[in-house]
Amino acid sequence: MIKAVRGTRDLLPPETQLWSFVEAKVREVMRAYNFQEIRTPIFESTELFARGVGEDTDIVAKEMYTWEDRGRAQSDQGQSLTLRPENTAGVVRAYIEHKLWDRGLNKLYYIGPQFRRERPQKGRYRQFFQIGAEVIGPSTAGSESPARDAEILEMLATLLDRLGIQGWNLELNSVGCPADRASFNLALKMALEPVVGQMCADCQRRAVTNPLRVFDCKVPGDQPIIDRLPRISQFLDEGCRKHFEDVQEILKSVGVPFILNDRLVRGLDYYTRTAFEFTHGALGAQNAILGGGRYDGLSEALGGPAAPGIGFAIGEDRLVMSLAETAPDLALKPDVYIAPVGERLNAEAARIARELRREDLVVELGDGNFRLTKSFDAAAKLGARYVLFVGENEVKSGMFALKNQQTGEQVSVPRAELAAWLRSSK
Ligand code: HAM
Repeated sequence: MIKAVRGTRDLLPPETQLWSFVEAKVREVMRAYNFQEIRTPIFESTELFARGVGEDTDIVAKEMYTWEDRGRAQSDQGQSLTLRPENTAGVVRAYIEHKLWDRGLNKLYYIGPQFRRERPQKGRYRQFFQIGAEVIGPSTAGSESPARDAEILEMLATLLDRLGIQGWNLELNSVGCPADRASFNLALKMALEPVVGQMCADCQRRAVTNPLRVFDCKVPGDQPIIDRLPRISQFLDEGCRKHFEDVQEILKSVGVPFILNDRLVRGLDYYTRTAFEFTHGALGAQNAILGGGRYDGLSEALGGPAAPGIGFAIGEDRLVMSLAETAPDLALKPDVYIAPVGERLNAEAARIARELRREDLVVELGDGNFRLTKSFDAAAKLGARYVLFVGENEVKSGMFALKNQQTGEQVSVPRAELAAWLRSSK
């Protein structure tokens, strides 16, 4: 048997109904905040992620699905391509490529699959889905303002509340600007020097190439060492400190609770200033339901104009997981199962099905070849509310028998009133 590849999975009904429910709510909320949808390609040139996300991040160093393209055309030959591990770099590339600032398009959202070769476990997949949004634009559009950060965070709180997700925590930090990070990195290097020999191999590499990434370490033995390291909060310049305070002040005034966590540096290099994660207790070890932050220099790093930005991505798999227990039963059940009595009645049954579906009813169409008991079994298996018989007598008289599957009651309804009757009996 050929199975789905490790770390990937099939989403089956009725769970897919829950995914559609989540996505419909997301689109509603995005609309209220005036975000529009963008769809970027699932693969991009590898360089985009190397420059955008950062060579020293776990994502780029270890987790990308990368291959060399082959093809006849000279332009395809040997180009290094990568399945997107995240979507911010792609959105910023599109922003630059299409000069979206000229069109006033600075609030974009996306829903789609991402790919990382991580060790699969509960809530962690190699193909997973993200729901994300980005606010990006020239400073003149106010995209630098702490008001944008607070608005994004308030939108996320609204979305989680509307989905009925309770018990989330917003963890907040500021990772400062590049100048703050340069002095922080220096201090980190010095603090690491005497202790790095006791740390894991990854941390030994990070201490040299990008000391900030030491905070991504999950190795239990390294944690006491990491706990004693300096924190970025001690290195913020006046501008960054003020920006961060303003974000917090607005959050307090709109009533969005948060926890300050100065260990939170996020696993991607593009972040500046505000960085955040929403966690949820029910998720186990992979408890980050979403993450995001500001990336004021990303557009320039990708060859674009100055365009401060902030955004987030929700792990949709995790969001659905945290909803699964409280979600309403969304399984699709037909309003009516139509049972043609004899093969000759298939055409008439198809006509009735067409009429009822036009009236927005959920209709399952049986087959005239089926014996009645088989039709009943099929209707029961699907959870249909009613069975409608289409026999010679019914067609002649124009009166149709509808059997309630729950009570066993049977009523006779004129053809023209079938739709209204089925609707009113919901
Ligand atoms: P990220 O923290 O790498 O950020 O991913 C965001 C969310 O995606 C995580 O909090 C988690 O819920 C989900 N996620 C990540 N990896 C997996 C996985 N292997 N399996 C299941 N879910 C996963 C970003 O991707 C940034 N692009 C977010 C952003 C947008 N920052 C600014 N704008």
